[in-house]
Amino acid sequence: MTLSTLEVRADALLVTWADGTRATYPALWLRDNCPSAFHPQTHERVLDLLALDLSPVLLSADHTGETVTLRYADGHRSLMATALLSAHRPGKPAADPADIAPQLWRGDLTTAGIPRFAAAQLLADDAALGTWMRETARFGLTIVDGLADHINAGVDVAKRIGFLRETNFGTTFEVVNRPEPNNLAYTAVTLPLHTDLPNQEAPPGYQFLHCLANEATGGGSLFADGFALAEDLRVEDPEAFRLLGETPIPFRFHDHEADFRVHAPVIQLDRHGKVTEVRYNAHIAAMFDMPADVMPAYYRAYRAMMAKTREPRYQLTFKLAAGEMVVFDNRRVLHGRESFDPSSGLRHLHGCYVDRGEFSSRLRLLARAHPL
Ligand code: OGA
Ligand code: ZN
Repeated sequence: MTLSTLEVRADALLVTWADGTRATYPALWLRDNCPSAFHPQTHERVLDLLALDLSPVLLSADHTGETVTLRYADGHRSLMATALLSAHRPGKPAADPADIAPQLWRGDLTTAGIPRFAAAQLLADDAALGTWMRETARFGLTIVDGLADHINAGVDVAKRIGFLRETNFGTTFEVVNRPEPNNLAYTAVTLPLHTDLPNQEAPPGYQFLHCLANEATGGGSLFADGFALAEDLRVEDPEAFRLLGETPIPFRFHDHEADFRVHAPVIQLDRHGKVTEVRYNAHIAAMFDMPADVMPAYYRAYRAMMAKTREPRYQLTFKLAAGEMVVFDNRRVLHGRESFDPSSGLRHLHGCYVDRGEFSSRLRLLARAHPL
């Protein structure tokens, strides 16, 4: 953005931009972010903030279009890029290519409406990778198809994004019916809609379930947008929404090798009241431990959320075929499956996770290479 006028105050620089918007840059902020404050190669701050006055005195500001030259009473001179000042206006977070607004969906999206992508393109082409990742961030759910009949074919696509998130179930996990399961997913029973690992301090971000075989009777998948459930609850039952957002509940997973416990609310909001996460998993929720007098109201709220997860109008149901992979934001989208008959054929999904931070980092790198 082109700079229109500069006004110097001892404690701040006031900029009017060409579009008439104005920004105020406190002098201490300007000193803290002077280009000389950063290591030229690592871009990390090397300046010691405590070496500065709490209130540096700004004497003058001149600009050449590209650069603003600032002079201070202690003799310091800063050359700040106009573009940097434009991008970092106090009170307005800098633009972030990874900040993608969720587009909520309900059952009327239909299975045909789930964005689909071909594995071969995602493996070969960064532009296709970026498009897929942005759609996955927007909808919280996409399908990748055309995967090779190979145990790591889905993992290879996930690794195009970044490091896999290792958990107590491994870096990758086999969803198959097992003789000695430590997780309901490793049986043939119904899995009602849930998010994985809400018992972890930070539940895994994106989940990848690559279908290698789905020949058993039953075993269909279901999905629901937890953000849509939460937003509808906010309108239809504000008291339930409030309690689900404010009351931490215990979640626990334990077996012979692990004992994870956490208290967290079912609906997580940011400081603006925006829903950022849903942790919902009735089989991992531990014994509620809030005061007894709060319990009836909380149970009512929790059941209201649970009832919503059962409403077909939120659900997408379909049966994964070998060579397909569902990819979803495990901290937003609820997933589940119908029971299956293990004696009728093989059902085998290969899963892994990539955390949200890894995902966002990759999106930003792709945006550098392919500016939108
Ligand atoms: C899981 C899970 C779903 C399925 O492994 O966490 O929910 O379709 N699996 O088996
Ligand atoms: Zn699961």
